[in-house]
Amino acid sequence: MKKITIAIDGLSSCGKSTMAKDLARTIGYTYIDTGAMYRAVTLYALRNGLFNADGSIKADELRACMGDIDISFKFNHSTGRPDTYLNGELVEGDIRTMEVSAHVSPIATLPFVRHALVASQQAMGRGGGVVMDGRDIGTTVFPHAELKVFVTASAEVRAKRRYDELCAKGMEANYADILKNVEERDYIDSHREVSPLRKADDALELDNSYMTIEQQKEWLMQKYEEAA
Ligand code: C5P
Repeated sequence: MKKITIAIDGLSSCGKSTMAKDLARTIGYTYIDTGAMYRAVTLYALRNGLFNADGSIKADELRACMGDIDISFKFNHSTGRPDTYLNGELVEGDIRTMEVSAHVSPIATLPFVRHALVASQQAMGRGGGVVMDGRDIGTTVFPHAELKVFVTASAEVRAKRRYDELCAKGMEANYADILKNVEERDYIDSHREVSPLRKADDALELDNSYMTIEQQKEWLMQKYEEAA
């Protein structure tokens, strides 16, 4: 069977990474979480004082640092998904905090950040056999992907899932803050100038608000079998 490219885009916290990672494991493909890459750049900016007190970004300074930011993934056999490394340091937990979530969408509007990360995503996915999830995979990173999926769910359902996920990991969580963050990120992601979040014309849309994880997995597997 030929190795295809699978692009899974959608709204914040809609469960796309759960579906994407599960499909990748089942069919033996590489899973790439592009949101983790934007989060890693954000963590770097937070740690290096690249935000002003009013929350704006010191864009020129960040641009000058882009060459010093190395993001890589290593498969973690106990969680069954890749862990994110920033300049060789394991940052999988640090990039999932509310602080990073609150700062990541403005970072993801910067054209030089997108340019660098998109180039690296294209290099990682060259040759196919990847399931890549994000916001612009089917529109910009791999516009010729053989299978494109666009996932949506109501903001309330997504915030509740994110809340449960953080609680399960023992991380700090407040439902109202999460809901506000999910809505803000959707807004910024879909209104930015460079590759805004939107469904590619040829993407299959999935509203998973009322679907179990098992039903979503089955749906995606069927779409993969039809596309491969
Ligand atoms: O997928 P996740 O919610 O972890 O992504 C974090 C943020 O990174 C998104 O809210 C969005 O601002 C940005 N992002 C992006 N393009 C991608 C993946 C993520 O702009 N391909």
